[in-house]
Amino acid sequence: MPTTTMSARVDAGELTVIGGGGHVGIPLVLSFADAGFRVNVNDVNRAVLEVLRAGRLPFVEHGGEALLAKALKEERLTFTSAPADISTGGPVIITIGTPIDEFLNPVRRVVQDCIDALLPHLADGQLLILRSTVFPGTTEWLDGYVKRKGRDLKVAFCPERVVQGQGIKELRETPQIVSGTTAAAQDEAAKLFAAIAPEIVVVAPKEAELAKLFNNAYRYIEFATANQFYLIAKSAGLDYRRIHDAMKHNYPRARTVPSPGLSAGPCLVKDTMQLAAFAQNQFSLGNAAMLVNEGLVLHICDDLARRYELSRMTVGLLGMAFKADIDDTRASLSYKFKRALANHADAVLTTDPFVTTDPDLLPLDDVVARSDLLILCAPHSAYRDLELGGTPVVDIWGFLTKANVIR
Ligand SMILES: NC(=O)c1ccc[n+]([C@@H]2O[C@H](COP(=O)([O-])OP(=O)(O)OC[C@H]3O[C@@H](n4cnc5c(N)ncnc54)[C@H](O)[C@@H]3O)[C@@H](O)[C@H]2O)c1
Repeated sequence: MPTTTMSARVDAGELTVIGGGGHVGIPLVLSFADAGFRVNVNDVNRAVLEVLRAGRLPFVEHGGEALLAKALKEERLTFTSAPADISTGGPVIITIGTPIDEFLNPVRRVVQDCIDALLPHLADGQLLILRSTVFPGTTEWLDGYVKRKGRDLKVAFCPERVVQGQGIKELRETPQIVSGTTAAAQDEAAKLFAAIAPEIVVVAPKEAELAKLFNNAYRYIEFATANQFYLIAKSAGLDYRRIHDAMKHNYPRARTVPSPGLSAGPCLVKDTMQLAAFAQNQFSLGNAAMLVNEGLVLHICDDLARRYELSRMTVGLLGMAFKADIDDTRASLSYKFKRALANHADAVLTTDPFVTTDPDLLPLDDVVARSDLLILCAPHSAYRDLELGGTPVVDIWGFLTKANVIR
């Protein structure tokens, strides 16, 4: 497998990032700007562009503020929202969302609509890089589609693999998988990413597409394994944290066993389902992982409903983001908890120190003071040493140090 650490850097010219105001787009834009590029931040969401232009980030991206201030000061960013405003002089990287539909199948139309809008404004010979996570075969399909329209573009797929909120740091540390439909596309994409990535790994487009999906599905299955272990221990009346600690202690082969917890967010389940669709719904491990990860919430609700008179109780949910120390609520299982508990409890109160988009959130102190029972949904660092009095807390994660955790 060709893998290179490239030292030769491309001329830092201009590039366009479509979806440049999104979760993948912003760290990418800022990393390229930091590497000396001028970046055209193209996004249909004008409000997000205004926030960026004003020197603020629309969501938590650790280390992003300083890079944004530097990029704005050095006048490296332009903000555009129409396809006609993309730059014809440099590469175009697509980072738009790629959802799945009600049948849990990918929606290729999203990519096609985006390309249809861009095509009249792209110059022949230009490098077009897909970075969104796509259904295997999409890159080759795109190459054929462009050719059928009589256009000659260099088409590449270079997946994003950073963890949300840590993109700036991880882009510097994560090998970049690069693929192209021609040698020229592949080489040009490799040169471009060598400016920001520590290492380039070159494979064919479908291999790159599958590598990205396998990365995410594997992670999702790992979480499901931990969650199923947790449920097995719980059903046996045992404290899984003690077992988890014992099995990992100085035992290298268990080093990577994750903590149980809510496995949510916009990518892991979606990408596992894309892979299932690609495998003709024969991805039994992936489907089983979904049953476990999505079922965990309902299992805990059921268990609490059996053990407590919830209809007389107020339940407080700590952490509504889909994971720790970020503000993103997309596909957060905290909201599945909220809905499921609403069927049982007298009241459900919610709080989160990061989330700014949910008007129902209350200050932490209020939620703690008013709740008869608490559930740790997102293990934000700020919660670790919380003194919660004697209020019982469900802590799937095994995260809290001073709480009255119930098994
Ligand atoms: N969020 C992550 O951490 C992460 C990590 C790796 C891969 N991915 C993948 O990256 C892709 C993007 O995810 P995201 O979380 O950044 O989504 P996002 O919704 O945060 O960002 C997408 C951005 O694209 C913009 N957009 C949509 N259509 C557009 C168009 N036609 N022209 C210009 N702008 C347009 C949106 O306004 C939005 O700002 C998805 O395929 C996702 O699976 C995400």
